[in-house]
Amino acid sequence: MSDSLHWIFGYGSLIYKVDFPFEEREVATLRDWERRFWQGSHDHRGTPEAPGRVVTLVRSPGSLCRGIAYRVQHEVFTHLDHREKNGYERHRTRLYLDHREETVSGTFYIAAADNPAFLGDDDADAIAAQITASQGPSGPNADYLLLLAQALRELGDHDPHVLDLEARVRQLLARDAAPPHT
Ligand code: SIN
Repeated sequence: MSDSLHWIFGYGSLIYKVDFPFEEREVATLRDWERRFWQGSHDHRGTPEAPGRVVTLVRSPGSLCRGIAYRVQHEVFTHLDHREKNGYERHRTRLYLDHREETVSGTFYIAAADNPAFLGDDDADAIAAQITASQGPSGPNADYLLLLAQALRELGDHDPHVLDLEARVRQLLARDAAPPHT
């Protein structure tokens, strides 16, 4: 295969919003990292005044993070570097592809704790409330979470952090949609 092809691993919106061309796609696993809704979003699911929350990865020895690996032409990085520009940086790793015996070298985007948009941890109810209230140019922050939770279920990754937030946000959305008591 051509050397201009690279594996990119997606663990957040890159799983369900695929707005770039790819040659191959495989379910894949990243070892020793965990997803967290700890990155602020000023440009997609929130605004600079009212940032939303999107996922990044934190180190977690022994954890497995499922996602999708795409084999892409090098030019795709130009598009993804722009899409992920609000605090994410490329990181190299070994990827475990579901249908291969050997690992492959790949890249993923991570928003580290020292980037200006990083929000970090908070109480789960506060994170859920922020996600429910936020929206940005890419749409409601809740959609990002609900689409991710659904995509992870389809991959068999029952990520407790994401599923817990999904349940809280669904409750808040149902409460907001309920008619007022008379
Ligand atoms: C990713 O999906 O791999 C990075 C985070 C995001 O864009 O949601």
